[in-house]
Parts: sequence; C-alpha cells; structure tokens
Amino acid sequence: MTEASGVLSPEQTAFLVRQRVARLATADAGGRPHAVPVCFAYRTGVVYVALDEKPKDVPPERLKRVRNILENPEVTLVADRYEEDWSLLAFVMVRGRAELLEPGIEEHGAAVRLLRGKYHQYERMKIEENPVIAVRAENAASWGALGVSPSAGPPVLDTIRGRRSARRYLPKPVPDEAVWRVLEAARWAPSPHGRQPWRFAVITADETRERLADAMGGEWRSNLTMDGQDAEVVEMRLEGSRRRLLDAPVLVLLCLYLEDLDTYPDPDRQQNETTMAVQSLGAAAQNALLAAYDQGLDAGWMCAPLFAPGEVVGALGLDPALVPQALLTLGYAEGDPPKRRGRRPLEELVVYRDRAI
Ligand SMILES: Cc1cc2nc3c(=O)[nH]c(=O)nc-3n(C[C@H](O)[C@H](O)[C@H](O)COP(=O)(O)O)c2cc1C
Repeated sequence: MTEASGVLSPEQTAFLVRQRVARLATADAGGRPHAVPVCFAYRTGVVYVALDEKPKDVPPERLKRVRNILENPEVTLVADRYEEDWSLLAFVMVRGRAELLEPGIEEHGAAVRLLRGKYHQYERMKIEENPVIAVRAENAASWGALGVSPSAGPPVLDTIRGRRSARRYLPKPVPDEAVWRVLEAARWAPSPHGRQPWRFAVITADETRERLADAMGGEWRSNLTMDGQDAEVVEMRLEGSRRRLLDAPVLVLLCLYLEDLDTYPDPDRQQNETTMAVQSLGAAAQNALLAAYDQGLDAGWMCAPLFAPGEVVGALGLDPALVPQALLTLGYAEGDPPKRRGRRPLEELVVYRDRAI
C-alpha cells in the first residue's frame, strides 16, 4: 500500500479527503491574520484550492488571500466536523507553504482535474483560467473522532455525486462491520423476480489475493499478447492491475448465479433472463459502492474477473455454477482521484420527453 505523504498520518488523510470545506488562514507581512472557507482537494501532501469567486473585473492577485500568500507563504488550513453529538467532533490542521500555480503548467492542469473530480460545480466554472493555490504540507495536527462516520449522512444525491472510483488506498484496515454494511446494501438491490441472482466472495488474506492476481494475470497476459501489444506495455499493465489487487484492504468479488432464474423454451427469452441478472448485479454493485462511500470508505470497480471467470472460480475454490463478473476494491483512498471524469449534461442524456420537466 502507498503512503499518501509522510506528513499526514493515514487517519488524518482519510478524514481530510472526506471533508467538503476547510478554512484557509493566511497572514500578511505584518502578521495580520485572514481566514476564509475554501473548497479543496488533496493529493500526496498537497492541498489545492481554486480561485473562483472573484468578480470579473477583479484580477485574482487582488484577493486578500492571494496578496497575503505573495507576501508571506506560511499558511494553515483546518478541516473540521461539527455535530451536536460531541463525541463526533474532529479536525485536521495542516500547516505549510502556499504557492500560486499559474495556468499552463502541468501541476495546474492536474489540480484543476482533481478539483473538478471532487466538485461537479467546478465543471461549469472557468477555474482553469485562474491560478490555483497549492499548499505543500509541512506538518499536521488533529484532534477528535477522526475515524468515526456520523450516522446521519448527506442526502442521497450528494452521496451519489460524491462517490468516486478509488485506485490507490491508504494502509488502513477496514472494520468488519463496514464490510458487512456494504454487503447488506448490495443484498437490497432490485433483482428479476426478486431472486437475487448474485453471490459475493470477500477476500482479505494476502495469499488469496496473490492466487487471484496470478490466475487473472495469466489470462490477461495471453489476451494482451494476442492483441499484439508490446511486451513491455503488457508487463506494465499487468503490474498495475496486480498492485491494485494486492494493495486494496478488501476485495469483494461479485458473481452471477443463474440457477434460480426462470427457464424458457426459446433462446431469446432465456437470454433476457440472463440480461436481467446482469442488470441487477450492476444495481447490487452500485448499492455497495454507495454504502461504502456513505460510511467514509472509498471503492473501485475492476472488470478483470469477467475475462478469466474459470480461473477465478478455480483460484478461490468456488462453486462452478458461479460466474465472476467484477471485483470491488474497498478501503480508504490515499487522496482525491487525479482523473475523475465529469458527466455529460442531462440534456444530452434525455433523448425524449413529452413535456418539460
Ligand atoms: C462495468 C464497469 C467496469 C469497470 N471496470 C473498471 C476497471 O476494470 N478498472 C478501473 O479502473 N475502473 C473500472 N470501472 C470504473 C470506471 O472507470 C469509473 O466508474 C468511471 O471512470 C467514472 O469515474 P467515477 O467512478 O470516479 O465517477 C468500471 C466501471 C463499470 C461500471
């Protein structure tokens, strides 16, 4: 597993990346303090803050926080959680040096992608035209119940929008109850005839994930080689996929189980029965991803088992009637994902409507 940065502990990082707002404190050359709430994204020891709310005729350099940073780069950022139940109070404070990343440099582009991945609102704002503040963490302090998730979560649409695919995790174990709640959410997915045509395998032991990685790797290597891919590229892609399997604290394998479905004399209806089962496995997967996110975890989706179903069944010693479809990785993300894709506007996706909504 990878360390996000030597400065923040895994607990501090996990808390920080789940917060939507922080307070950025700067001071001018005379030491006069100034603090503002900011939206931010965090990755490998650096906090990024966009400059977005200025009126059109005020250049970003006129903003007090920017003038302060130019005079005195020492800043502090605090992300905190307040609940009426004070056993849930917590904060992380990051001290560091701030600099302005100008448009055109690579880190600026990466920071803009990171911020847009976390806040869909930025997709419609021209933050790429302004500098981005980068706070390079030098030390961190924290207090309170960092690892506890408040039970009253955000409204469901916020959870849906906030969920993102994680591909790198902190070396922080996932409590068994959290895994159980993820599976419980999957169990409640809609399914054809209510038959729940899926089964789950939970993998945490290193030797099991190694076996799984070896089994899928062999099949993938021959597929990529068959596609005519360069041997070096094949090995690099295999290594990346293997690392993901070995690094994620928990893997959940989603399998189709078709034995309880209806049978038909004609192949078309039989095929539809299978299609419905696959559709409902997708719903179970999404339930699981949302339940993970809602409890402060992150998750990722790997389609690899689809390409080596027999090998996966063999490696785990599963019932041959199971058809592996996907692996969900679960854990605490090491940072906000660097390249989260935006979404097409609804106007593009709704292709027909008979009245305005
Ligand atoms: C059926 C399916 C298969 C996927 N397979 C993979 C995969 O093999 N590897 C991967 O990194 N992400 C995979 N993903 C995740 C998508 O890349 C991801 O959901 C998409 O880029 C949108 O990003 P977001 O989940 O962060 O919003 C898969 C998603 C789905 C629905």
